[in-house]
Amino acid sequence: MLRLAVLVSGGGTNLEAILQAIEKKTVTNAEVCLVISNNAGAYALERAKKHGIRGICISPRQYASRDEFHQALLKELTDCGAELVVLAGFLVGIPPMIVEHFANRIINIHPSLIPSFCGKGFYGLRVHEAAIERGVRVSGATVHFVDTGTDTGPIILQKAVEVLETDTPKLLQQRVMEQAEWIILPRAIHLIANNRVRVEDGRVCIDDRG
Ligand code: GAR
Repeated sequence: MLRLAVLVSGGGTNLEAILQAIEKKTVTNAEVCLVISNNAGAYALERAKKHGIRGICISPRQYASRDEFHQALLKELTDCGAELVVLAGFLVGIPPMIVEHFANRIINIHPSLIPSFCGKGFYGLRVHEAAIERGVRVSGATVHFVDTGTDTGPIILQKAVEVLETDTPKLLQQRVMEQAEWIILPRAIHLIANNRVRVEDGRVCIDDRG
């Protein structure tokens, strides 16, 4: 059983998708051992509780320095025995110290087709605002391994979603979640948990037999 720690900041719909996929067994060989939010009011923590999963808040505001916050985060991740860290809408940067500790064992869901609309400043609704502003006809979501850059790690899965002329950022965000994020994030976890993902020369190879 691959032990997952899921890091969240907000609503937690991706966390919900993971937990439901594990319950329905479309994700196998994985269990969520801990949910960490940087925000005590995040609805994601309620979702964890409803599924009987331990959820805690670790906020930079509780610590005198960023370094102490990072040490506390690393301690919780190692104490719970996490083998894969899943960033499911976690809007706080992961420091190199944690990335190196969990090399190719941290994944992130990003709400665009990387390398479009990603990097510093592109998160949440802002990504969809930028996509609509640019007039793209197709957007989507990406699951990738986390390296020390922002949204630069090896890409695991992507799924395209149509952009409609009538879209607002919120409508597009909802469609990208429903048609891409909630599908590819659990799928990536399933593939990793079943040893079907390898990273070679900075690129991902997937043994995708269904
Ligand atoms: C999701 O759309 C996720 O892709 C995005 O935050 C949202 C969290 O929603 N993440 C980023 O923008 C990271 N750069 P959720 O809390 O309902 O899962």
